[in-house]
Amino acid sequence: MAGLIPQGFIEDLVARVPVSDVIGSRIQLKKSGGTFKACCPFHQEKTPSFHVNAQKNFYHCFGCGASGNSINFLRDYENLSFNEAVEELAKVAGVEVPKDEKNQQVYSAQKVLWDALEYAGLRYRNALKSHEKHSVAKSYLKKRDLSPEVIERYGIGFAPAERDFLSSNAPADTLKALIKTKTVSDKYERLFDLFQNRLMFPIRNARGKTIAFGGRTLGDDKAKYINSPESEVFHKSNEIYGLYEANQVNRQLERLLVVEGYMDVVSLAQFGITYAVATLGTATNTESLTQLLKRCQNLVFCFDGDNAGIQAAKKAMENALPLFQDGMQLSFLLLPQGEDPDTLVRDEGAAAFEQRIAAAQPLSEFLFQIYSDGLDLNVAEHKGVLKQRAEEQIEQVKSLVLKNALRQKLNSITFRRSGKERKDAEPKRDLVSNKVLRDPDGGLCLALYYSPARAAEFQSILAGVKNFPRASEFACFLTEAGLSSTDELLYFLATDSTGQREHFSGLFDRLDWVPGAEEMHVEAEEVLQKILKDKKQANALKSTKVNRRPSEMTAEEKQALRSISIINPKSVK
Ligand code: GTP
Ligand code: MN
Repeated sequence: MAGLIPQGFIEDLVARVPVSDVIGSRIQLKKSGGTFKACCPFHQEKTPSFHVNAQKNFYHCFGCGASGNSINFLRDYENLSFNEAVEELAKVAGVEVPKDEKNQQVYSAQKVLWDALEYAGLRYRNALKSHEKHSVAKSYLKKRDLSPEVIERYGIGFAPAERDFLSSNAPADTLKALIKTKTVSDKYERLFDLFQNRLMFPIRNARGKTIAFGGRTLGDDKAKYINSPESEVFHKSNEIYGLYEANQVNRQLERLLVVEGYMDVVSLAQFGITYAVATLGTATNTESLTQLLKRCQNLVFCFDGDNAGIQAAKKAMENALPLFQDGMQLSFLLLPQGEDPDTLVRDEGAAAFEQRIAAAQPLSEFLFQIYSDGLDLNVAEHKGVLKQRAEEQIEQVKSLVLKNALRQKLNSITFRRSGKERKDAEPKRDLVSNKVLRDPDGGLCLALYYSPARAAEFQSILAGVKNFPRASEFACFLTEAGLSSTDELLYFLATDSTGQREHFSGLFDRLDWVPGAEEMHVEAEEVLQKILKDKKQANALKSTKVNRRPSEMTAEEKQALRSISIINPKSVK
């Protein structure tokens, strides 16, 4: 597609319109020397690392790496296709985009559909105002207590209970397009409207073009809601209901609240919570999550507290894990049984509802809650089940920071005493360094936790080495107890009443980074090799200076011994 517009024209266009104009008309830019700065619209941040270089006509975010020219910006920020971005830019420059025939055809074919859907939307809005039977819809809206402002903002309309409300009046070309989008059906002898006796919610794309409808029955129709079927201009998984409207109110969305229904989005907006959107599929799938994350990196998923809601939340979480990157925040809010955002916000008000949003569980907590469902973590076998359920999912996470945090949490839940028995809260973490080798002693403990069968080998390497007290003791305990696998170890600790659990519960506390088994073995190997090497050197040094105490050594010899720090730095004064 992209190749169809002459490359020279695109280059000209990009050069002609300053990138700082394109971006500056959408987000607030601050001049800073020769460039402009802003908080990056593509990831969440508090200090600006998004730079716009007017001279080079280029933007770059030092936080998330987003970069490009005006076209790249429009595509990502406005969610436009390449052609649409060129169109938009051409509009600013006041020029026509030269297109070849095929390109022109695709564009005008889509435009015909958009226009027809816009026509239908207008008819529905007018019917709500002045159709002879509009009181059905009016009184329903009154019952649901929707304000005129949100009805207007969301373009809500009324499809009367007539099979040919649209088709009997539409111009021939429009009718053809309505049939193409399946707003009017030609499957039977007579044309008939898909939406009859329904409250109409237009679904708009990122540019505000109506691309489909959702219709709620005003009677007792078995299908409470009907959505437009997929069409050339409507791909369900890629579209988010309410996103355009949320963007109109909040140019920079700090967070998005993802709810289940049209009515929820609209009611929340009425109460001032203008950042709610709904996905149009039943579950939050990878495509819709990708769309959401493109617009905002802070998502709060809100689901009903019944079993279906919990399953949907779990699905959303599992689909989100592989997409999670540093800088994102995902959290989950399960509502009380029998409530949805619409009923709840009307019942308790916006402030209370926003408190719920603020208290939503972060992904890192929610994951363990979901996977602990139905388990008693005082039972060793149940810890094993949790480990099995969670481990595979955790490995899908690409963000190292989150992955490590989740692994650490999983290890501490399955390894340590259960939460019920623990009196102290979270383990203390050293957040200064990102390296396990900051605490090599703890690292070896972790390696032993993963492979208790290596305890004897560790013991012999650590014999005579002074600054690995915890690993030495842990290895000794493992060989004496004859534990040769992680499962055996966990079972032993869970059923032990001799105080070993308490004794070993702090082994990993100083690790702020918990590698997986394979990574840990690589790390551990390095530590072990260094110990062996140092031991050899120390022995060599000692054997040439038999019976000499440090006080009798030359300065050079002391220095050599001191450099073998890993053995026992304090012994050389
Ligand atoms: P209200 O009853 O109007 O408050 O709607 P709700 O949002 O509370 O309804 P519900 O929780 O049952 O449904 C949530 C969302 O699921 C709706 O907004 C629709 O998108 C969808 N949905 C509900 N019922 C149907 C149905 O019968 N067919 C289809 N295709 N979608 C439905
Ligand atoms: Mn509802």
